[in-house]
Amino acid sequence: MPKPEKHVFVCVQNREPDHPRPSCSQKNCAEIAEEFYWNLQQRQLFEKIQVTTTSCLGPCSEGPSILIYPEGIMYGDVNKKDVAVIFDEHLQNDRPVERLIVSREFW
Ligand code: FES
Repeated sequence: MPKPEKHVFVCVQNREPDHPRPSCSQKNCAEIAEEFYWNLQQRQLFEKIQVTTTSCLGPCSEGPSILIYPEGIMYGDVNKKDVAVIFDEHLQNDRPVERLIVSREFW
């Protein structure tokens, strides 16, 4: 596999409902991860973009959290429709989606 141009990390951390910290699993992160994989498949971008599910990325209250390198941009409160926008704008045209970037207060 060639080195990817961009690497997308999708938080799929789960915590019990009574845990003091929220988790992305409480906000349908599994559906978001599936949408990333579906778009990757539909757009045939396997040689340019890698998608990896991961545990907690940090800003749990702002999830579902998505981290993209090499830019080091963290997106929060991502919904299923946002995933195609992230592909269209950021991943394929190097235009970060400003409205989804997590506030510096959280990351
Ligand atoms: S649980 Fe997803 S960022 Fe912490």
